[in-house]
Amino acid sequence: MRKKNIIVVGLQWGDEGKGKIVDLLSKNADIIARYQGGNNAGHTVVTGNISLVFRLVPSGILNEDKICILGNGVVIDPVVLFEELEALQKINIKIKGRFYISHKCHIIMPYHKRLDIARERLRGAGMIGTTGRGIGPAYEDKVARIGIRAIDLTKKDVLYEKIILSLKEKNYLFENVLCENIFDPDELINEYFEYGNKLKDYLIDSSEFINKSIDAGKNIMLEGAQGTFLDVDHGTYPYVTSSNTVAGGSLAGVGIGPTKIDEVIGITKAYTTRVGEGYFPTELKEGLGDAIRDKGEEYGSVTGRPRRCGWFDANMIKTAKYLNGITGMVVTKLDVLSGLKKINICTGYLFKGSIINHLPYLSDDFKDITPVYEEAEGWNEEIGTIKQFKDLPVNAQKYLVRLEQITEIPINIFSIGKDRMQTVTLKEIF
Ligand code: IMP
Ligand code: MG
Repeated sequence: MRKKNIIVVGLQWGDEGKGKIVDLLSKNADIIARYQGGNNAGHTVVTGNISLVFRLVPSGILNEDKICILGNGVVIDPVVLFEELEALQKINIKIKGRFYISHKCHIIMPYHKRLDIARERLRGAGMIGTTGRGIGPAYEDKVARIGIRAIDLTKKDVLYEKIILSLKEKNYLFENVLCENIFDPDELINEYFEYGNKLKDYLIDSSEFINKSIDAGKNIMLEGAQGTFLDVDHGTYPYVTSSNTVAGGSLAGVGIGPTKIDEVIGITKAYTTRVGEGYFPTELKEGLGDAIRDKGEEYGSVTGRPRRCGWFDANMIKTAKYLNGITGMVVTKLDVLSGLKKINICTGYLFKGSIINHLPYLSDDFKDITPVYEEAEGWNEEIGTIKQFKDLPVNAQKYLVRLEQITEIPINIFSIGKDRMQTVTLKEIF
């Protein structure tokens, strides 16, 4: 096994199955670090009869001896973090000495959550459909330079000043614009200083730690949350999350340089899903959409909302290839397509009489595009127990080959069920 540092990103709108794949690839990595997002993410990992949902801690933590890090680009809700750590400790996963947090991570405060939910209400029909976890407002405060960082929780007077500063505007907003209760800084200070005490042992300089580990010959895996088209710059704005989900964001999000990265692996479902509002060219409204949702159990792991389902959009995946510098991909949930007579692959959009191969630049133009499909033959057999590519029904083989051809991305792995074991490797990543 050669030394390698990789980035794993979602190529669609999140929920591509990154958690399962990161868990799988963790056996070859020494350090797994997250670089953005917060507990809006939900990775489900199924191993034997245990099903675990990860919101903040990288799923690599299930592999003994691996070190997991939350890089500076992650926003942390300490309430959720400690719930998750306790749940892991309950099933005897060792945390001490294996899990670290950048002291530069920004903290999601209770007022961020209230603001997130109140803003959505204010937007009414134009709502983003956020997870309501305070992610956007926490990143806003970071950029507005009034955020509270993990390290700030460890010093009471610093924390107090920062809470006062942040609440100056927010309490006005809550009271006068959003018709919400205001926050009393005195009530927050003790609770969050207490979290600071608990966090202290985990805090590190993620940049220094990871760079030194790379120099010492360790393999690093940077794990993205959400997906490429939820990226705040490159996604379907404004229906996006508030961080840079693309591979480039990972470098700033942990504090390493681009010269350290060897490969960027993209994860995509064999079809497409989206949760929350916003454009979705290949969405299937009823019938087939419902059938895919049922078979794929497509319900949000954070909010439980039904996910919208649709055909594989090769156009988007090609764009995602450029945005991330993808070197190989993993196709998940191929088993969900078993039983369909025909499967569509979107190869372009019809827009004002001509075919375009990128998403519209003006968000208003989304309503005027029609996906152009290439039809593939389906297969009937259930495929959850196959071990090799050649065990797949011929039409499933053809489908995968066609996805490779159209997207011009080689497939490293495909996955055929929820369990760790239901995965076939075509080309080793490490
Ligand atoms: P926020 O990240 O909570 O602000 O939500 C913004 C948008 O991103 C909404 O459409 C959410 O449904 C979506 N979103 C955020 N996190 C995830 C995720 O982990 N998977 C899928 N969608 C997500
Ligand atoms: Mg998810």
